[in-house]
Amino acid sequence: MENQQVVYITGGSKGIGNGVAQYLLNKGFKVAISSRNLKAAEEAVSKFTGSLSDRMAVQSDVRNPEDEIKAVNAILKKWGRLDVLIANAGVGAFAPIESLSYEDWNSVIDTNVTGVFNSVKASLDAIRKSKGYIITIASLAGINFSPESTAYNASKFAVVGFTQALMLDLRQQDVKVTTIMPGSVASHFNNHIPSEKDAWKIQPEDLGEIIFNLLKLNPRVLPSKIEVRPAKPPLKA
Ligand SMILES: NC(=O)c1ccc[n+]([C@@H]2O[C@H](COP(=O)([O-])OP(=O)(O)OC[C@H]3O[C@@H](n4cnc5c(N)ncnc54)[C@H](OP(=O)(O)O)[C@@H]3O)[C@@H](O)[C@H]2O)c1
Repeated sequence: MENQQVVYITGGSKGIGNGVAQYLLNKGFKVAISSRNLKAAEEAVSKFTGSLSDRMAVQSDVRNPEDEIKAVNAILKKWGRLDVLIANAGVGAFAPIESLSYEDWNSVIDTNVTGVFNSVKASLDAIRKSKGYIITIASLAGINFSPESTAYNASKFAVVGFTQALMLDLRQQDVKVTTIMPGSVASHFNNHIPSEKDAWKIQPEDLGEIIFNLLKLNPRVLPSKIEVRPAKPPLKA
């Protein structure tokens, strides 16, 4: 894959997707980001640095297959190709099973699992054409379970399983597939407000660096599942 490759990041209005977008823009990629809200996506895009013609905002709710198809079509219309999908959009809901609502369960599963499926389905033809790359952002919650995390754990175990099976489906077609499983990242996840207290956490741009390095690897090599954790988390009291 040569530059200028085109990247589509779902959920780039803030957090991990936003930091990864800026990192890849700095490295010369063309980057489209999405949000459920067009204004939020446009505002985020306006704050990126670098060439204006290399960035794009799209409105899409990953829970809606039609939205994802429209988003990919808009990217293809603007840049004529799509090389990399980063299926990042995700939400959390944490509560004991007794109080976990049906609404929260559906929101987490629809966004984190069906949303990834919708993004992959919408991008597949273009990514196969470019012999590109699909990356999903799972979580260490895709291997480690925690209390009050039934919905989130279920969703991230599913993303890991989905992505590994997808990798087996696509690697003979020269499409690479990787799932990244971060631990604590400084983001807005679960209504968190990032601050200097998050300095020990993985920063969104750190994941940008990992993704950039994945995209540079020799075509014969595929790290299909990557666990990423803070190097030195604070010791629990
Ligand atoms: N933060 C962590 O510690 C951590 C660790 C491991 C994995 N992750 C995973 O990393 C991914 C990104 O999360 P984050 O930490 O960056 O959280 P964040 O700061 O809350 O950002 C989430 C992003 O996803 C978007 N989004 C949410 N629902 C969406 C939908 N239905 N359609 C389209 N976009 C949607 C949000 O955009 P709008 O609200 O503007 O629509 C926002 O841009 C998630 O999959 C999360 O599970 C996070």
